[in-house]
Amino acid sequence: MRIVIRGGTVLSSTGAVPADVVVDGERVAALVAPDALTGDWWGAADRVIDASGKYVLPGGIDAHTHMEMPFGGTRASDTFETGTRAAAWGGTTTIIDFAVQRRGSSLLSTLDEWHARADGNCAVDYGFHMIVSDVNDATVKEMDACLAAGVNSFKMFMAYPGAFYATDGEILRVMGRAAENGAMVMMHAENGIAIDELVARALAAGRTDPVQHGLTRPPELEAEAVHRAVTLARVTGAPLYIVHLSSSHALDEVTAARDTGQNVFAETCPQYLHLSLRDLARPGFEGAKFVCSPPLRPAEHQAPLWRGLRTNDLALVSTDHCPFCFSEQKELGRGDFTRIPNGLPGVEHRMDLIHQGVVAGELSLARWVEVTSTTPARMFGLYPRKGVIAPGSDADIVVYDPTARQTLSASTHHMNVDYSAYEGMEVTGRVETVLSRGRVVVDRGEYHGSPGHGRFLDRALCQYLN
Ligand code: URP
Ligand code: ZN
Ligand code: ZN
Ligand code: ZN
Repeated sequence: MRIVIRGGTVLSSTGAVPADVVVDGERVAALVAPDALTGDWWGAADRVIDASGKYVLPGGIDAHTHMEMPFGGTRASDTFETGTRAAAWGGTTTIIDFAVQRRGSSLLSTLDEWHARADGNCAVDYGFHMIVSDVNDATVKEMDACLAAGVNSFKMFMAYPGAFYATDGEILRVMGRAAENGAMVMMHAENGIAIDELVARALAAGRTDPVQHGLTRPPELEAEAVHRAVTLARVTGAPLYIVHLSSSHALDEVTAARDTGQNVFAETCPQYLHLSLRDLARPGFEGAKFVCSPPLRPAEHQAPLWRGLRTNDLALVSTDHCPFCFSEQKELGRGDFTRIPNGLPGVEHRMDLIHQGVVAGELSLARWVEVTSTTPARMFGLYPRKGVIAPGSDADIVVYDPTARQTLSASTHHMNVDYSAYEGMEVTGRVETVLSRGRVVVDRGEYHGSPGHGRFLDRALCQYLN
């Protein structure tokens, strides 16, 4: 199958050029100056996609999703099948999801389990990070075997005591191994011990509403954990990646560490750029729709986060997609906010929501592509196969209409969840056509993908460090 995407503006992390893109099979064959393609090419094309007036950009890479994730006695409502289909609809052609080690399980058996869930079911390509929740000699040794299996990033939690929580000593051990084998340590940085104390006080005082989730997890306790993680990383020499950074306080810690030259990176998520504590404080039980950790912050945190994206102290944007239905799952926490499953749906709307930063003048077009595709590819060892439209790259391509308007809503989204965190929000720009490894999977409102098209990605080490 040979496809020519004609007449568009091809975007990359360095700029925009008018060009035609030739796709041959699963790969990009060539970028050609407008009107330079000879008649032979047109004759050999099975399909010509008209992209005039549109952007042509590398498929999005969402480096932080939780399909089917077990949490608080339930499971995230998107499966690998439904979640990757929604990703494709939104112009994301690669996800990196998290395999979750349970206490008593090995890392490799965990990886087998997650392969069993994902393999054959994904609409787009996928990789895995590993969540380490049981640190012992065997686990630390097994990190090397994970690397050999294409999984070279390990998430740890300073939050959730009694569940995923790791002590500073355990973190130090995992970081020590990462410093030796080149793996990336990803950190959920919130001081879970202090938070649990604030939570206990709130419950004892009869404060049980969803907004309490936010009030008991103040930004200072995110910043403190970031600082501690940075310190442990410095002592061990491990690279550090702060996940889902939500507050200006935490960003200041990342910035300070980066200013010393330490290998510290961070991501933020669309919900921290567009939503706020006010959403968590919506009346009745409505706020439960917005419970995630770290929590949504007062709106004054948003401007510093956009600035961090510009200055690269925030390197990229992932969604932390972890949907739970409002009607049955968020409901578990009515009358006790601690039982509300943590997480927001978002995998479908990341490209659009960050494009709003371009519309508002917060980000350049090149930076939009960089934080949504090129940097995630480099950070997690997928470049230049992913993250760029260049000869030899996978033909993961989005044709994007920058002037179309759309209203985000649960009634039109494709994620398997009964609400939208962005219900009624009007956005400028819309995905028109999506190619995943040369196959048209979404085209002008129609879905042409299939489960099993997506392949597992055996990732290299972080390409900023290796
Ligand atoms: O609330 C969240 N973020 N749920 C997903 C699990 C995690 O901590 O990333
Ligand atoms: Zn987390
Ligand atoms: Zn997460
Ligand atoms: Zn449901």
